[in-house]
Amino acid sequence: MKLAVVPGKAEIDQIEAALERYGVLIFPNQNIQPQQQIAFSAALGPLEETELEKARLEGHEEIFVVGNVGKGLVSFSPEDNEQELEWHTDHIHHKVAARASLLYAKEVPAQGGDTLFSCMYHAYDSLTAEQRQSYCEIQTINSASGLEHFLSKQNLSGTTGSQVGRKHDEVIRPLVRAHPLSGRKALYFGNQITIGIVGWEVDRSRCFISDLTRHACQPAFQYRHRWRVGDAVLWDNRRVLHAGTAYDVKNARRLMHRTTLRETEPINLI
Ligand SMILES: [Fe+2]
Repeated sequence: MKLAVVPGKAEIDQIEAALERYGVLIFPNQNIQPQQQIAFSAALGPLEETELEKARLEGHEEIFVVGNVGKGLVSFSPEDNEQELEWHTDHIHHKVAARASLLYAKEVPAQGGDTLFSCMYHAYDSLTAEQRQSYCEIQTINSASGLEHFLSKQNLSGTTGSQVGRKHDEVIRPLVRAHPLSGRKALYFGNQITIGIVGWEVDRSRCFISDLTRHACQPAFQYRHRWRVGDAVLWDNRRVLHAGTAYDVKNARRLMHRTTLRETEPINLI
């Protein structure tokens, strides 16, 4: 499928069904301009505009620029492979979450800079019956402060957070959500951006999130995408978590354009 062409109703239905079924869709060998990426994405639903100034593409507010080429470093990857990843689902900490994201690779490093995806249907289904029951009652606290804390531990020059020190909103989400298309339940959290569990002590919350990440993002549930220039990857934030891997930020070049589809359905189970 060529993303340069705006999809019709039949193609949109096909994309949406495949997206729910597989969680991640790869469109290789694309050659698209920002306006074409925006038009393709907008055919699937309403788009988010880029809040972070240095990630905003001039004249195209719907494009979020990721990488180390452009106005500054925008990266959510650890500085090396020894460190923790930042597993997340886009915009869980925003008032309006992101239901899907489309990332288009313009420049990629020869090594590293992969994106890992983990299936949250499998993560939920493989819990014990007891866990499934109790997790459905857990509410998480999500905030950009968790991401800032993660980035502040990296020794990269010019970290992504341009709003360090700012008081961030906390957004409460259910730990388990049902996919509106399938009704299947999926875990919904991030290992850095989820900063606590409602009603729990900080230490207990941290241990829980750390153990849950080990379970939910185990290699058996993962797909690793090794980027090639021209790849466009569409993922379903309702049912996968993703994480960027390290690359040589100082010497290699990485430039990706993301469009972000706004959540349009309720997230709470009840
Ligand atoms: Fe992301």
